Amino acid sequence: MAPRPGQMGRLAVHYHPTQIRSASFAADPPAANPQNCTMASRLSEHGLFLREFWRNFHTTGAVLPSGRRLAAALARYVGKGDLPQRILEVGPGTGAITRHIVRAMGPEDQIDLVELNPSFANRLRDDFAHEPELAAVAPRVRVLQTAIESLPQHDRYNVIVSGLPLNNFSVAVVETILQAFRELLTPGGTLSFFEYMAVRRLRMLAGSRAERDRARGIQRVLGGLLTNHEIRRDAIWLNVPPAWAHHARFDLGCPARGGQV
Ligand SMILES: C[S@@+](CC[C@H](N)C(=O)[O-])C[C@H]1O[C@@H](n2cnc3c(N)ncnc32)[C@H](O)[C@@H]1O
Repeated sequence: MAPRPGQMGRLAVHYHPTQIRSASFAADPPAANPQNCTMASRLSEHGLFLREFWRNFHTTGAVLPSGRRLAAALARYVGKGDLPQRILEVGPGTGAITRHIVRAMGPEDQIDLVELNPSFANRLRDDFAHEPELAAVAPRVRVLQTAIESLPQHDRYNVIVSGLPLNNFSVAVVETILQAFRELLTPGGTLSFFEYMAVRRLRMLAGSRAERDRARGIQRVLGGLLTNHEIRRDAIWLNVPPAWAHHARFDLGCPARGGQV
């Protein structure tokens, strides 16, 4: 990716041995963006999101990026405590939550962004190379274009923030992802994730029989996690649609029971 005119940014793209496409950044500070670029940038962010929603409805799972209140709630445990944090954001999309995480990060915190969709991953790489607020932390950021299920388990994180549309996935995939979160968190680490209010309950009542069974299965798996490990829940009414931000710690609460994470 070539630096934009007037900027001497360096972007190192390399392939991880496990074939994950990753990029780390060492960008020189870019010139400040003119104010009138902000609106154009947001329009292009929403345009890309809508396009990917039509192309990949199942994995994108939303028509619009998360609103700022939801994003701020999901970044609640970032930058807390005295020690540097390793942060993992899963499903960053166009970076709506990422920007709140970056603002909350401490000076030595590091973040990995795991994004399945190459269009979103490329957009994020570009933004981290060129947007001043993001470029300032770029040396501490890795964008990994892969599925979270394929991420090697040797890394450990203090905070995981997930933007995944879990209610769109099969029960087996949700179980695999929650197990991966559990293994990727350090003891005492926090998982924050969201879901749109009432979506799962509506699917449990309406839709085909297969869809109702799937929604019930996800209710069992996610319900188990929340019953056993939820430490806080934020209601975000001013989001489209309204959403819950769930926060969980696996080392607190009841040990996992059979079939439950
Ligand atoms: C609902 S969007 C959320 C985007 C953004 N975090 C936000 O809140 O605006 C879900 C994102 O998760 C990504 N995604 C879906 N399945 C994934 C997986 N298995 N591993 C990593 N990313 C995934 C999608 O490509 C998409 O960017």
